[in-house]
Amino acid sequence: MSKSPVIAIDGPSGSGKGTIATRVAEKLGYSLLDSGALYRVLGIACHLKDIDLTDTAAVANLAKNLDIEFGRSGEGSVWLDGKDVSLVIRTDLGSDMASRVAAIGPAREALFERQLAFRKPPGLVADGRDMGTTVFPDAQLKIFLTASAQERAERRYKQLIGKGIDAILPALLRDLKERDRRDSERAISPLKPAEDAIVIDTTDLTIEQVVGQVLEHYVPA
Ligand code: DC
Repeated sequence: MSKSPVIAIDGPSGSGKGTIATRVAEKLGYSLLDSGALYRVLGIACHLKDIDLTDTAAVANLAKNLDIEFGRSGEGSVWLDGKDVSLVIRTDLGSDMASRVAAIGPAREALFERQLAFRKPPGLVADGRDMGTTVFPDAQLKIFLTASAQERAERRYKQLIGKGIDAILPALLRDLKERDRRDSERAISPLKPAEDAIVIDTTDLTIEQVVGQVLEHYVPA
């Protein structure tokens, strides 16, 4: 039996991956994997359980046994051990912890199988950093979204201000560059486009334009 199709959408934070992946999945009636949310939940779980990140076996063990549920209280909601963690995983603490646990090889391995389980008919749109390179190397379509660091920091700034959360643009830009560095320089599954990925720079494009470009490139089997 042939495997269900996958569209892999990778890129750095703020490149618009999450929004684009959600829209593309809706248009095609496919399921969605927000792989970053898995790393975020793992990071927050380590924080809550006070796990020392240098104890990589303990982090991997936690990753294997995490009780995560997506969509329990609406689209995009994420639950850990029966508690709604949708908001806390999106805080700066959530982002920071996620990029730290994401650099731990055994933790990535432990989350690997969980990600494969999202592949089911009629298809999957998977967003992350290594969807096209490592998790779904046989994806039908691989997209790598980019945008300038300044533009990505500004998007995050507007998002936070829109939610009534105080933010300082230069600090956001600095933190974003630091996470970019950690994500691209790590030894395992670093952030980089797959060789056969189509790179789209979203700096001056609207969401609709990017969704349109992704769908234009997609030829279902
Ligand atoms: O996409 P995001 O911002 O929610 O990702 C949070 C962190 O998880 C980010 O530092 C990169 C990491 N990540 C990863 O290493 N591999 C993935 N497939 C997805 C996210």
